[in-house]
Amino acid sequence: DWTDQSIIEDQVARIREQVGDKKLICGLSGGVDSAVAAALVHRAVGDQLTCVFVDHGLLREGERRQVEEDFVGSTGVRLVTVDAVDTFLGELDGVTDPEMKRKIIGREFIRSFEQTAADLVAESREGESGDIEFLVQGTLYPDVVESGGGAGTANIKSHHNVGGLPEDLQFQLVEPLRELFKDEVRAIGRALGLPENIVGRQPFPGPGLGIRIVGAVSAERLAILRRADAIAREELTQAGLDDEIWQCPVVLLADVRSVGVQGDGRTYGHPIVLRPVSSEDAMTADWTRVPFDVLAQISNRITNEVDEVNRVVLDVTSKPPGTIEWE
Ligand code: XMP
Repeated sequence: DWTDQSIIEDQVARIREQVGDKKLICGLSGGVDSAVAAALVHRAVGDQLTCVFVDHGLLREGERRQVEEDFVGSTGVRLVTVDAVDTFLGELDGVTDPEMKRKIIGREFIRSFEQTAADLVAESREGESGDIEFLVQGTLYPDVVESGGGAGTANIKSHHNVGGLPEDLQFQLVEPLRELFKDEVRAIGRALGLPENIVGRQPFPGPGLGIRIVGAVSAERLAILRRADAIAREELTQAGLDDEIWQCPVVLLADVRSVGVQGDGRTYGHPIVLRPVSSEDAMTADWTRVPFDVLAQISNRITNEVDEVNRVVLDVTSKPPGTIEWE
């Protein structure tokens, strides 16, 4: 498409002009924005860019592979993956309050990213190939408007993105998506050859599965939720509902137990909540009328394939009054 190509060429020229021969780093979240921003910068300046991906253990099934294999395979970007699973789970141990979870995850995320950035800066100094002076961020136009919005924009939930880096890590920002909306970013991502599982991805919160376990987070609970989530996503995609559904949180009620029966035994497992919503911008939402046979298939598969889950329930609340996420 002509417009996509001209936006890409324009941004490539602007990035080259801004950074010269200096180096950059970019934190990847697995989401669309950071992936497209990184791909654009890579198109402009190649290996002057290093990407950092923090695996906090709260990712969905396949997400790390999508970044490490699909994203890297389609762009050739230099990637450093930080395996921080044990640290995050250790810090989250026993924590049930949603805001506390967000704070811990946000704090640890910045800590991991900062540490890796500092290592990379030190490495690049030793190699005398020039300092890392720039940080790439996937800020979109609506983010710019929202954060400059003044009164009335107070966050009800302390959303975290890769935005909150401390002042003492002194990078200049490169934000090639600042003038774009989400659908334009997706189009550019496709024009840059990024895989559909990244460009077409539905919104997923920064704190990941950590805020989809009602109760304390643990490796065992994450494994249960990750399986159930993968099954739900697979069936919804298969049923052709990805365009109709804005996102579908799958939530584990880890502190609730319900009685079930399987074979000739009584089970005492956990319920899983499906929360499919339709929305324009996540500010308001309605629950999606997913066809009953699709729901039945998801329910059958989850209760058969995921040990510990003996009940699947559907959330039929609009936003407001319910938020999209359960925490
Ligand atoms: P709620 O639950 O407030 O969610 O209706 C609105 C949108 O924001 C996402 N969300 C988050 N995104 N960090 C994020 O990056 C967070 O802490 C967070 N909490 C909610 C949610 O998935 C939905 O798209």
